[in-house]
Amino acid sequence: MIITYAEIDGFKNLSGISFAPHHKYNIITGRNAQGKTNLLEAMWILSGCRSFRGSKEKDYITIGGSRMSSEIKIYDGAREQKISIRMARNASVPKQITLNGVKQKGTRSLFDVFKCIAFIPDDVEIIKGSPEKRRNFIDMAASQLNPVFVVHINKHNAVMNQRNALLKEIMQGNSGADVLEIWDRQAAHEGTLISYMRNEYITKINEICGRLYRTISGGSEEMELEYKSAVFRPEDFEKPCDKDAYEQYYRKLRESAEYDIRTGTTHTGVNRDEIIVKINGLSAREYGSQGQIKSAALVMKLAQAEIYKKKSKDSPVVFLDDVMGELDESRQRFVFDIIKDMQIFLTTPNESAILPEIKGKLLRIDGGKITDVSSHWE
Ligand SMILES: Nc1ncnc2c1ncn2[C@@H]1O[C@H](COP(=O)(O)OP(=O)(O)O)[C@@H](O)[C@H]1O
Ligand SMILES: [Mg+2]
Repeated sequence: MIITYAEIDGFKNLSGISFAPHHKYNIITGRNAQGKTNLLEAMWILSGCRSFRGSKEKDYITIGGSRMSSEIKIYDGAREQKISIRMARNASVPKQITLNGVKQKGTRSLFDVFKCIAFIPDDVEIIKGSPEKRRNFIDMAASQLNPVFVVHINKHNAVMNQRNALLKEIMQGNSGADVLEIWDRQAAHEGTLISYMRNEYITKINEICGRLYRTISGGSEEMELEYKSAVFRPEDFEKPCDKDAYEQYYRKLRESAEYDIRTGTTHTGVNRDEIIVKINGLSAREYGSQGQIKSAALVMKLAQAEIYKKKSKDSPVVFLDDVMGELDESRQRFVFDIIKDMQIFLTTPNESAILPEIKGKLLRIDGGKITDVSSHWE
């Protein structure tokens, strides 16, 4: 999949941006704080995902501005599609999302249309951060393969909010404990599915991470992912995801109910899952060096791209925000080799730090505008 055209206006500091990207390499350069990352972000949000750097929607619009629009055309080898988002500062004007000119109810439908992967410096949090960061990474990546997964995650979250609110009610004596069972049944249903889907994705990504990490470390180090489900043991996943599995999950919730009521929060289930990333047998989060953590995070993302490509026979668009310039030549070569069939947008304040063979289009951004486009080195 490639972006063939992009037009952005009023997104953060960007104004009057329009360009036809190169089908492979697009290098976005310029001094600090000129809008390079904003440009990636403005295209990224058309995938239906939240900002990769956690920006809130209300901050998408230029300070002092009244509206923003971001529009891209994408081509998947068969047909061209057009996606756009328009937002106004005035809260009474609804957000407008269109796909091929047709108004969409929300961003959900875009998730299936425009697929992209972003590498950002903050990705090290996948390794270094709380268990939630790793769960979110796996859930997002698995959802990209199978969008129905998102539905289960959302349902489970909604059930958990209800359950936790109810726990507090029971604790305060405002409700009987018997109602909890209804929520536990639903939580068990969604939680079992989520556990099995996580296990499936982690099994897949573990294999690829192992291979990629071996290569990036010059064959000297091993990387491994271990799924520690709060409910199931590894051997449980060899059995089918059926009524027995669901009962097992349900029992676990019931066993925990008394303690949950006393503390007002749920202590078991998929929200307590952990995914342990190990390098040479040791937890990277606890014992990894900076370099190992950076490489492990990069490898996780590369593995995600590889799995996606294999499944869909179409490549996601890759956004590399400020990550390539930091890598030495051999590591850059390794990364480019894995994503070589994909369209890439990379930002760097220093284009000379990028491998010389990466030729395509160079966009210079200054004060939120494209001040120069060159493709002469093609
Ligand atoms: N809502 C906004 N309105 C106007 N400018 C914004 C808004 N949000 C961020 N900016 C500006 O965007 C710039 C940062 O852009 P960014 O893309 O992160 O820069 P970089 O080129 O370093 O990647 C800063 O100058 C910041 O003030
Ligand atoms: Mg930036």
